[in-house]
Order: sequence, then C-alpha cells, then structure tokens
Amino acid sequence: MPENHFGGKVAERYDESAADMFDPAVVGPVVDFLVELARGGAALELGIGTGRIALPLSQQGVRVAGIDLSEDMVAKLREKPGAEAIEVEIGDFATTKVEGTFSLAYLVFNTINNLTTQDEQVACFRNVAGHLEPGGCFVIEVGVPGLRTLPPGKRFQVFDFSDTHIGIDEYDVVNQGLISHHLSPVDGRWEIFSVPFRSVWPSELDLMARLAGMTLRERWSGWRREPFTSKSTKHVSVWEKPA
Ligand SMILES: C[S@@+](CC[C@H](N)C(=O)[O-])C[C@H]1O[C@@H](n2cnc3c(N)ncnc32)[C@H](O)[C@@H]1O
Repeated sequence: MPENHFGGKVAERYDESAADMFDPAVVGPVVDFLVELARGGAALELGIGTGRIALPLSQQGVRVAGIDLSEDMVAKLREKPGAEAIEVEIGDFATTKVEGTFSLAYLVFNTINNLTTQDEQVACFRNVAGHLEPGGCFVIEVGVPGLRTLPPGKRFQVFDFSDTHIGIDEYDVVNQGLISHHLSPVDGRWEIFSVPFRSVWPSELDLMARLAGMTLRERWSGWRREPFTSKSTKHVSVWEKPA
C-alpha cells in the first residue's frame, strides 16, 4: 500500500489550506464538465478526499462512489451534509475495486502524480478500465511537467510565495520525480509539508490509456474547454473505453 501523506493534521486542515480550490468559481466548471460526461450514469472518484468535487457532483443527481487511502480525509468527508449518499472504499486507487460499474471515472487536482512509479500509474488506468462501462470515460486533471522553465542543472522551482504559503517544487529530472514542499505558518512558526510525486507527460498518459484499452477523446487546458496549447501548464484529458 502506498504511503499515506494525507493523515492527521493534513486532513484536519485540508479544506482550509486548499480554500481557493473550494471556491464555487473553481468547483462549478469541474462539476458541469463531469455531469455532462456522466450522461446520467454513475461516477467513480479516485482520491475522493474530503469531497470537494464528489459532494457537489452528487448534489447534481449523479451517483458518486470513491476510493481513498486516507481514513482521516474520508472522515472529514463524512462530517459534511450529503456524504451519506456517497459510498467510499479505503484503499489504493491503483488496485482497489468498488462494487458496480460506472459511466465516468475521474482523478483531479494532480492526484495521478501521487502514484510515484510508472507501474502504479499504468495499474491505475487498468483499474479504471475495469470499472468503466463500454463507452465510459476517464478524466484526469494534472499539470504538464514544468521542465521548460527549469534551468539546466537546477532542481528547485518556486511556484507560490505569499505571507501564508510558500510552495517549492523539487525536480528529480532523471526519474520524473517531483517533491512539492509547502511551507505554511502555524501558531507563529513555519511548518513544512512535503509530498512526493511522479510527474507524467500527456503523451505518456495516452499510452497508459492505450495499454488499458482506452483512447484519447478530448484534451483541454481547463474545465471550460479552453484550448490545450504549447503554453498550457495543465490539462484536462478524457479517455474513452470503446462502446
Ligand atoms: C490532493 S488530494 C485531492 C482530494 C480531492 N480529490 C480534491 O480534489 O480535493 C489527494 C487525495 O488522494 C488521496 N490519495 C493519494 N494517493 C492515493 C492512492 N494511491 N490511493 C488512494 N488515494 C490516494 C489522498 O489521500 C487525498 O485524499
């Protein structure tokens, strides 16, 4: 089982520390996109966390189930109104099975990167394909590896700098490794929270989808279907299982 980086205090503070991602202006377009793709069927969220997307999606009438490694994150979800409609399995989303089949599976907010090996990411696509109905879709929202702005020989890239948060990505270029360091003031002291990731190229994800029998259907740079271009720093991609 992969290491759980979202237990205890991290889960306790998750909604507050990611407050901008809970803004209705951020969540609304994600939910609209997913409702449309679900086409009246059920949706499976990998890394459901505290329900940032699952709860509003469920409130739109989509049956939602989820998988998450962190009992503490799921406990926070369980405190929220509407959570009783959502079935959650505790486990690794690369391998955990959930009862039933789905017209949609989704993995948002860079969470595919939490699988730190290529093998685990490949296994995740296979696991998703096994849950999807024919014609079902898998959606991933993830950053494009930021290597174009990393000078040769350098490892660190500051991605946020404010009074309340300093974010630094540490690249291991050879292994596609990435550690995101987050520094936040807690009770007058700066605390560090570091999470290991594996960054992954869009084309590599397409190949993982093909290995799992799925093909690319759409790729955008955002949830409002903004075009994906050479300048895009993230993408929202949709792969389809053949009907
Ligand atoms: C950045 S949070 C995203 C939570 C939620 N999807 C959101 O958008 O707010 C990542 C979540 O994925 C879960 N997670 C990370 N790796 C996992 C794995 N291998 N299997 C299951 N859950 C995992 C973490 O426990 C955490 O709840």
